[in-house]
Amino acid sequence: MSGAELARTHASVDAYYSSKVESFGATPGGVDWTCSATQNLRFVQLLRICDFSADLSLNDVGCGYGALLAFCRERHPDRAIDYVGVDLSAAMVRVAQQHWQAAPGVRFVVGASCPRTADFAIASGLFNVCQSIATEEWESFVRATLRELGFRNVKALYIVKDLGTDWIDKGYPVTRGG
Ligand SMILES: C[S@@+](CC[C@H](N)C(=O)[O-])C[C@H]1O[C@@H](n2cnc3c(N)ncnc32)[C@H](O)[C@@H]1O
Repeated sequence: MSGAELARTHASVDAYYSSKVESFGATPGGVDWTCSATQNLRFVQLLRICDFSADLSLNDVGCGYGALLAFCRERHPDRAIDYVGVDLSAAMVRVAQQHWQAAPGVRFVVGASCPRTADFAIASGLFNVCQSIATEEWESFVRATLRELGFRNVKALYIVKDLGTDWIDKGYPVTRGG
């Protein structure tokens, strides 16, 4: 995928999610989830890779307004979590920063890649909405994004089975799901 194509796809994703958060604020609807139950169910599954037996650092890519952090804090109140949330939507990051109001150990940045390495990295819902982008271009976008993220600290990428890519052949740490 060329730099221009990547920028165009980012702009399209940015426009989609920025309009959601501008309409619905720091709520599941603001990140295009139907409700907090489905949003949280994903967190339960994704956080299975994390070890909460000690304090930890966590990168949340495509963080939205930081609902993952709220979920972690509620589930693991005794753990210090050094958290960085990254989102390509500046509107989303603004809402996240307002919502979290300079909480210690919490940082939100605009971007499409992690500004640091952490113990764990989670990306929930990053590739949910391809809008009218053609499948081939979208798959190429997914590949480019994963390369950009560098697979640092990723133990396994869980991909729905109909995504139609040959991730395992390419050496990515993939688990296929339904
Ligand atoms: C479905 S929302 C999920 C938000 C959050 N992870 C949650 O579950 O509450 C997806 C978010 O990922 C962001 N996003 C999509 N692609 C991205 C990328 N390549 N880099 C950074 N953020 C991205 C969107 O702007 C949006 O805020």
